[in-house]
Amino acid sequence: MNSNKINGSYYTPNYLAEFIIKEVIDINAEKDKELKVLEPSSGDGIFINSLLKNAGNSNYIFDIVEREPDELNKVRNQFKGGDSHHFAYYHPIDFLKFQAERSFDLIIGNPPYIGRKHLSKEQIESSQKIFSDNLLDPNNFKNIWMAFLLKSYNLLNVDGTICFILPAEFLQVNYTNEIRNFLIQNFEEIRIYLFNELIFHDIEQDVIILHLAKKGKAQGIKYLEVSTLNDRVISVKNMGKISHVNNDKWSNYLLDHQEYDFIKSINENFYKVNELCNATAGIVTAANDFFILNSSSVRNMQLDNYVHPIIKKSSNLSSGLVVNEDNLKMLNDEDIPNQLLVLNEDIQNYPEFVTKYLDQGITQNIHERYKCRKRNRWYEVPMLSAAEAIFFKRSGKFPKLVVNDAKILNTDTGYRILMKDGYDVKSFVYSFYNSFTLLMSEICGRFYGGGVLELTPNEFKRLPIPYIQISSYQFDKLDELFKNQTPIEEILEYTDKKILIETFKLDEKEVERIRKIKTKLMKRRLKLN
Ligand SMILES: C[S@@+](CC[C@H](N)C(=O)[O-])C[C@H]1O[C@@H](n2cnc3c(N)ncnc32)[C@H](O)[C@@H]1O
Repeated sequence: MNSNKINGSYYTPNYLAEFIIKEVIDINAEKDKELKVLEPSSGDGIFINSLLKNAGNSNYIFDIVEREPDELNKVRNQFKGGDSHHFAYYHPIDFLKFQAERSFDLIIGNPPYIGRKHLSKEQIESSQKIFSDNLLDPNNFKNIWMAFLLKSYNLLNVDGTICFILPAEFLQVNYTNEIRNFLIQNFEEIRIYLFNELIFHDIEQDVIILHLAKKGKAQGIKYLEVSTLNDRVISVKNMGKISHVNNDKWSNYLLDHQEYDFIKSINENFYKVNELCNATAGIVTAANDFFILNSSSVRNMQLDNYVHPIIKKSSNLSSGLVVNEDNLKMLNDEDIPNQLLVLNEDIQNYPEFVTKYLDQGITQNIHERYKCRKRNRWYEVPMLSAAEAIFFKRSGKFPKLVVNDAKILNTDTGYRILMKDGYDVKSFVYSFYNSFTLLMSEICGRFYGGGVLELTPNEFKRLPIPYIQISSYQFDKLDELFKNQTPIEEILEYTDKKILIETFKLDEKEVERIRKIKTKLMKRRLKLN
């Protein structure tokens, strides 16, 4: 892993720090002239610099925390050139250990984003204690920025402000649900700045600016969209106030009350995925590159009797709605890895060419991987049966659900679908492709930097399906449309008519409204303006 990722250090570009400071200073314009400011992970001090540049008549008392002493020294050196209105205390320590001597008017920064598994035991314990002290569930602690946010809240004055750059997933993932509710209860004004393009290209990290004011002029949650072009802030557009209940994802800000009520009333008419089928995660190999081979390697190493076809990702599918023998042949012809090594006996029972391959795995330390170590035999990938259909959890323009005629296995990029009694898999797949289910995928799922949509198993299971029983002929017709790479909008025209209008008696206007909302959400996710 990239060391930047482990240190959580992707420095804020100058233009963005300037923009943030101007927004904050504007908000604090009527405050006292002396401001106590904390930067909990200063890096080389871009925020301090911008604050000094835009200080106006204010005097600052800074507390500047940074774990890397060399970085902190850079801030110290810059500050030397500053004027005497301001004063700074430097703290070369882990912010989680920082003992503040005062409370703050403003806490500002771009905290590190470091996942729990890369933190020390001590950091995890301190973070979990911060959660418990704030009466939040310590199990929800997943990333260091969460502890930074809560600890900052605890260090704030009664009318203080926090302004942080945070990962955009803050708005939508389940583990931040509790923090979102906590913030609603503890801050009068919440502003969320969203970007129309990626700020941290290298890590494909979509970020937001979260601005929290304990005492606010305008109460509630407000969304603002920041347009950036060539690394410059172009404009800020007010997207309006949040219009949904506390425990919803905050990423659904584009929907207003009427749209919410409309969607809710339609949603009630349909089955949910988990009423029609069981959906479970696919096979976890722990090392796809080692356990999933292409056909030429299988041939060269004579492993033919020890492999089973598997699909690794949705991009390995052809365009139709069925994975079949033709699809497998195409993967073999193109030498795309699609053969899972299936070994479930002691090593001495295998011929030399098999053990030779396993030795290669040992040389690559595959056997030391956490999941391999937990197995009885490190090379025995836990097997699961082939599914009737596969839903791929990540997608681009729209999610992909296919019938599995080839009885191929699938990795954990896909959910394995086994139909419940009385429901047929082709009808299920057919019924999935309608504008309402795709709209609900946008609402229920989450998305990341590159615009990829992801549905967790629970999000998928809750999707509505206007299930209709169809004939093979109808299925083949839809399959044909997909095979011919018909644009999805055209496909939906066709299926919406059959499913939503003719069977479920929605009127044309309702379907039009569903499509409009879906397009709005999809464009926002893909950052298409
Ligand atoms: C994302 S960078 C941001 C730096 C700066 N705020 C900016 O926006 O340019 C995060 C910084 O946090 C520092 N850091 C990481 N873990 C820390 C911790 N536990 N306490 C204090 N600083 C930490 C890293 O050294 C890095 O300089």
